[in-house]
Amino acid sequence: MQNPQLNKHGELTHLLSTEGLSKNIITHILDTAQSFVPLAERDIKKVPLLRGKSVFNLFFENSTRTRTTFEIAAKRLSADVYNLNINSSSTAKGETLLDTISNLTAMQADIFVVRHEASGAPYLIAQHVEPHIHVVNAGDGRHAHPTQALLDMYTIRHFKKDFSNLTVAIVGDILHSRVARSDIHALTTLGVAEIRAIGPLTLLPEGLEQMGVRVFTNMAEGLKGVDVVIMLRLQHERMKGALLPSSQEYFKHYGLTEEKLALAKSDAIVMHPGPMNRGVEIDSAVADGPQAVILNQVTFGIAVRMAVMSIVAGASV
Ligand code: CP
Repeated sequence: MQNPQLNKHGELTHLLSTEGLSKNIITHILDTAQSFVPLAERDIKKVPLLRGKSVFNLFFENSTRTRTTFEIAAKRLSADVYNLNINSSSTAKGETLLDTISNLTAMQADIFVVRHEASGAPYLIAQHVEPHIHVVNAGDGRHAHPTQALLDMYTIRHFKKDFSNLTVAIVGDILHSRVARSDIHALTTLGVAEIRAIGPLTLLPEGLEQMGVRVFTNMAEGLKGVDVVIMLRLQHERMKGALLPSSQEYFKHYGLTEEKLALAKSDAIVMHPGPMNRGVEIDSAVADGPQAVILNQVTFGIAVRMAVMSIVAGASV
């Protein structure tokens, strides 16, 4: 079956998932992002690669980092950006997702950036649009968050240079995490030595071992000797029923404190996609500490999203 992210020439035309992306494509995105990073130091932080193109930000779920950095990225590429306010749009009157897309297409949209609570929504849109229109998944349900994974890969490459000797631990609510799934696919493709998943049994999905992931329910054991720690938020909004005794109990066993972080390598980096719940999955001393690269992730997100939009639009340098 043809990869729905690729056009008939094998080029990336939509970004829907890190699953199925080749190492060459991921590396091309990271290299392109790297070429955009110095732009942030210039007086005029713009390049004309998407001049005259219209980017529609469609966020059917809340977002701070992804939505804002997509907007900044599109503006730095000189695109015209339209942020649809979903709450005051005709979606609230019952218009279907595909009717909304058809109407925005009639307004000459070129790129749709889509976040949706339903897994698969960006795939549906990608099947529906004409070939000259591009869809970028900004997070769908618990399925995928490919640009977050790509900015995570960029951050890891920036601080650790080479993926092949790394042990990466992903900690917390992996069951509900689209970031964890997308990170695991990207880390596997980039050839890290070991991926670990750490969390309570109730928050670990089935099938992790089949994906080549080592599973730990004891955080102290799981953190021993790791190079990268990716902390995840407890996604209460996606939990049906009580999967945990309490936030305090969770913090005691799975919250990242300085004491627990000391079990990782001394130069380990700490990442978090945000939003963070301080005192639940991460202690402030770690979140604001010298090993945290959490705000670097946000900054790199702009360059990575510039790279993704310019590449899918066939406009990259
Ligand atoms: N990491 C992330 O997706 O954050 P937002 O929900 O703020 O976009």
